Amino acid sequence: MIPWTLLGTANIPNDGGELRLSQRGDDFSIHLKGVRGELMSSRMHSSELALAALGCAHIKESEKSKVLVGGLGMGFTLAAALKVISINSQVVVAELVSEVIEWNKGPLGECADRPLDDSRVEVHLGDVAELFITGQATYDAILLDVDNGPEGFTQAGNNNLYSNESLQAMRQTLHPGGVLAIWSAWHDPKFIQQLKKNDFKVKAETVRAHKGKGSRHTIYLARKFHGA
Ligand SMILES: C[S@@+](CC[C@H](N)C(=O)[O-])C[C@H]1O[C@@H](n2cnc3c(N)ncnc32)[C@H](O)[C@@H]1O
Repeated sequence: MIPWTLLGTANIPNDGGELRLSQRGDDFSIHLKGVRGELMSSRMHSSELALAALGCAHIKESEKSKVLVGGLGMGFTLAAALKVISINSQVVVAELVSEVIEWNKGPLGECADRPLDDSRVEVHLGDVAELFITGQATYDAILLDVDNGPEGFTQAGNNNLYSNESLQAMRQTLHPGGVLAIWSAWHDPKFIQQLKKNDFKVKAETVRAHKGKGSRHTIYLARKFHGA
């Protein structure tokens, strides 16, 4: 069997540890050093595509829309969002780790057909949470896949992202009818209740990791009520 080759390492801000990019043949893996495990694999990315397809389904016919993707990873969700939205639309992709952006400009970019080259994409280097501070209705969809579910994994600070305060801030940055879509490796009924308590209309879809097979992942779809 071909061994994995380490292509690069990066420090995750806020003492989050070390992120490592490895390659074996055509496969790439981004994992957290030590026992913390894999954050993203290029082999299984069907549910990352589903995050964009489900989270952007309501803007498929829109002439102009604005989508926020957090974070970049291997670019699958970003590329899938670009396929749904119109030519006049825009995607802001927030990525915490600068090296992830550089890796996507290098060999990793091939995974999702180099979505960063698309002129509709604007990159925000930093914490996605910084984009929720404005409190201004800006986005039609927010596609969030920064951890393995609604609890901090990449860095402990990400726990705050799933707090009531943060969910309210995300809700405010959505236009009425807009959708917050969150990727998760597990199904958490308590998180669904929490989203409902924060005035979202909620649905959870089960999707498979790899072409209708493999692990079951959950996409939480939280819609901001019209007129809210
Ligand atoms: C699981 S990967 C995303 C996979 C992506 N959906 C794809 O299609 O390849 C998680 C990404 O989120 C980034 N990240 C983690 N916490 C973040 C945060 N608070 N703000 C922005 N990006 C973050 C990580 O560095 C990593 O690149």
